[in-house]
Amino acid sequence: MLPPSFIGVFDSGIGGLSVLQTIHAEWPEAATVYYADQAHFPYGPKPASELHAYVDAAAQMLIARGAAGIVLACHSASASSLERLRVSYPETPFIGLEPAVKPAAEATKTGVIGVLTTQITSQGALYKSVIERFASKVRVLTQIAPELVALAESGDIESPHARAVVERNLAPLVSANADQIVLACTHFPFLARIIGSLTPAALVDPAPGVARQTRRILENRLRPHAGRIYLTSGDPESFSRVAARLTNQSDLDVHQFPL
Ligand code: DGL
Repeated sequence: MLPPSFIGVFDSGIGGLSVLQTIHAEWPEAATVYYADQAHFPYGPKPASELHAYVDAAAQMLIARGAAGIVLACHSASASSLERLRVSYPETPFIGLEPAVKPAAEATKTGVIGVLTTQITSQGALYKSVIERFASKVRVLTQIAPELVALAESGDIESPHARAVVERNLAPLVSANADQIVLACTHFPFLARIIGSLTPAALVDPAPGVARQTRRILENRLRPHAGRIYLTSGDPESFSRVAARLTNQSDLDVHQFPL
């Protein structure tokens, strides 16, 4: 079912599809296997100790089946597990997601940046370190927004209800005059249209840089094979339905794959 050599792309749910789309755009001929751990969604509110087991199982499965490298297309998984995975699997390149605080801090004119994220990402050492290194001279407002994760995961990205929820979560950032909003959860680019209609702030998404980095790191490791496969530990029909709505692709090759 899986190509013999592929890029593994992993998230708790459908959010990582926002990263996968940029990888497909950057490197159309690369084979990809997307794994959504929807049986354990959401990751954001869970303790790191619990996520370690889920992320390890997914990484192990992808490596055993031929992943040339793995993109943790999930800030929460990267925050909890990236360094550990690199130690456990030294032969496999892991590309992680880091909150894009650096470009936001460089671009701000008001001196205020907002970061929309999850609980576990906001508590991680990686987030602390990017703020210390790149944002010591600007005000950083962190907004933990699990409701937005749930909206995107259900495919509700344009209803009046979605708009009201996004507006409530953005309010503290808008009223503090943040002119850069870092999307530090891969589910949030799917809400970009609503967010953009509520604030003139620039939305900062690290995905295009991650796609370029993925190609650079894996170019010489990935053997040429075709295939774009989608696996979920949850319900494949609901994955297909939501993914079709979010990505405008209706014929995805989706399979159930519990770990
Ligand atoms: N896409 C995830 C992230 O980037 C998921 C959040 C969640 O599962 O709570 O953090």
